[in-house]
Amino acid sequence: YDKIGIIGAMKEEIALFLGQMEQVQISEKAKIQFMDGFFHGKKVVLCKSGVGKVNAAVTTQILIDSFGVDAIIFTGVAGAVDPGLNVGDIVVASELLQHDMDVTALGFPRGTIPFEDISLFVTDERLRQAAVEASTELFPGRVHVGRILSGDQFIASRETVAKLYSELQGACTEMEGAAVAQVCAMNSIPQVVIRSMSDKADGSAEVNFAEFTVLASENSSRIVNHILKNW
Ligand code: ADE
Repeated sequence: YDKIGIIGAMKEEIALFLGQMEQVQISEKAKIQFMDGFFHGKKVVLCKSGVGKVNAAVTTQILIDSFGVDAIIFTGVAGAVDPGLNVGDIVVASELLQHDMDVTALGFPRGTIPFEDISLFVTDERLRQAAVEASTELFPGRVHVGRILSGDQFIASRETVAKLYSELQGACTEMEGAAVAQVCAMNSIPQVVIRSMSDKADGSAEVNFAEFTVLASENSSRIVNHILKNW
């Protein structure tokens, strides 16, 4: 891929890249700042989307239309859903689903987008492999490849997180990935989402999120840094 878009939702999630980019041109569209430049000699556009699916979707479409990126990597933190995962573990998405898409009243299974061919968006094999290799090298034994669930909800309850696991088989939950993946699918652009666990989406989620977001964000960024260095 020739020009890669890197998205994080929050400032913590893109902080590591800010000082490291070269020949940066900053521009703004839809109140989102885009940093177009070079990173490890590769063409990269870095941006902070803001939180949630709408922000993520708009950011992704702008990266494609206005900046001509031909691949997208999303980096950030998530709440662990799989009980086998702990704070600090890494999830590389195999596929992504919007857990808050709920048209069950009309008979559609939870997570299914009505009248669309796909609701489960798979990640690009090449990007996924590069992400797994980089994560495994940096965080051996802590890397999981699995389904990421996205929704406009910060999950902080044992009951809710248990349901996300039993009903939708999520590895972790966050608020942007599946929106990015859907927009990428609509435009035939490859993507991968990498998430570092800041909490377990349970009763302690707020406290853990506050404590671990900076470190978890940094870990995810280090993986993206590694991918681009070796790309
Ligand atoms: N991002 C990090 N932790 C999260 C959680 N528990 N729910 C949703 N998004 C998150």
